[in-house]
Amino acid sequence: MVAAAVTFLAVALASLRILRTSSSKNMKPLPPGSFGLPLVGQTLSLLRALRANAGDDWLGRWFATYGPVTRLSYFGCPTAILAGAPGNKFIFSSASVAPKVPASMAMMVGRRTIRDMAGDEHRRVRAMMVQFLRPDACKRHVAGVDAEVRRHLGDQWHGKATVAVMPAMKDLTFDVMCTVLFRLGRDSSKSEATRSELATEFQQLVKGITVIPLNLPFTSFSKCLAASRRGRRAVAGIIHERRIKLETGQSSAADDVVTHMIAEGLPDAEIIDNVVLLMIAAHDTTAALLTFLIRHLDANREAYDKVVHEQEEIARCKEPDEPLSWEDLSKMRYTWAAALETLRLVPPVFSVLRKTTADIEFGGYHIPKGWQLIQTMSTTQMDAAIFPEPGRFVPERFEDTSAMPPFCFIPFGGGPHVCPGNEFARVETLVAVHYIVTRFKWKLASGCDGSYVGFPLPYPSQGLLVDIEPRHHQTN
Ligand code: HEM
Repeated sequence: MVAAAVTFLAVALASLRILRTSSSKNMKPLPPGSFGLPLVGQTLSLLRALRANAGDDWLGRWFATYGPVTRLSYFGCPTAILAGAPGNKFIFSSASVAPKVPASMAMMVGRRTIRDMAGDEHRRVRAMMVQFLRPDACKRHVAGVDAEVRRHLGDQWHGKATVAVMPAMKDLTFDVMCTVLFRLGRDSSKSEATRSELATEFQQLVKGITVIPLNLPFTSFSKCLAASRRGRRAVAGIIHERRIKLETGQSSAADDVVTHMIAEGLPDAEIIDNVVLLMIAAHDTTAALLTFLIRHLDANREAYDKVVHEQEEIARCKEPDEPLSWEDLSKMRYTWAAALETLRLVPPVFSVLRKTTADIEFGGYHIPKGWQLIQTMSTTQMDAAIFPEPGRFVPERFEDTSAMPPFCFIPFGGGPHVCPGNEFARVETLVAVHYIVTRFKWKLASGCDGSYVGFPLPYPSQGLLVDIEPRHHQTN
């Protein structure tokens, strides 16, 4: 109780000091806004709105009251929110801004991921990942992704009347990632067991990233921490095996991302942190994209017909069981436009969190070193001045993006930390959509209204239950 009172007082004094410091020196004022109650600030109110899928309304009211550059207090930290394309540009490209890793995430994932790194160090570790994610690498992954998608639909969709799409897509993207990026084969019961252990622990671990980090017995955070410890042990086991294979000449650095990191001399603790981060970054996001693409195609028959037509044209030119090729993917222009339109309407990542590494000025305001910075994807992506009738699903907007102003469509973030997995996500999405639309018809199951919560990731009610039936003319 006494400790809480002392903390409360300390935070209140710190907030006062921030306000006084900025007004006493000859500097620009702090952004308008309010820090609210010490410690609590706007955290609970904003989190409540985000969980109820009303984050955009909450922010809209905030911007209407204080303008596009404002201050508030989020998770106990003084925070500036910058709205609009100039704010996005500043956050993504300023040298005095770096990613901020929330405490709960650092405790789950580790403190030495590429999100914690800057400059040469960041570039070096990022390059190790990009080696397996850039377009020429993705070209080599197409066959592997194709096999996983077919296997997955065979196991989880064929013969079923109803499918919960989001859980199914999470399984699919987890399996694709394990097979293609980490080369966890399906050749032995041991590697199947490792996959299944990782899947279980990661489901629990990701929940810990967005709960209040109270590590007390029986809190959900402590269960997530335990899952993180078990998941990390499993990754350490993979590193151990891969090192032996590398040292005995049974593998090479080009085989998979873990072996590559070992060969590059990254310390084991950093390999574990970055593998855990990669595993989290690589699968739920793409699963959300696929799920909401399926939902939007169900609700927009014209777009659905165009996607089916495009995919059937490609299927018609293939032999039965012939996998898709890189060239086939390049013909899926309308399907990818529909995927981008889905990312505009339902960005899997609501916002990116950054921090200032020096005092900065933006929009006529002073933002001190150490503050958090937030931008949100939907502020520009749902702006009617940039995307007319922003609530409508119109894939045609993305058929020619040459006139789209920069820093307005930002589902993959931007700047040096921009998502390196966007090409990989494109391959997974196009291959999965090809087989889903050419093999199945679907409609929302009765009682499933298609609503969803927006945070921490968009998640549809009942996981998006759809009734499915096979298409009569399966071509491959
Ligand atoms: C539709 C799918 C995806 C979306 C919407 C998405 C979105 C994002 C966003 C918004 C960021 C933060 C960027 C920033 O801070 O500016 C990010 C970072 C990252 N993403 Fe993705 N992502 C997706 C798929 C993937 C995939 C498939 C992978 C890997 C295979 C991946 C790996 C990463 C990594 C490693 C980072 C950290 C990059 C860094 O800090 O340098 N993502 N992603």
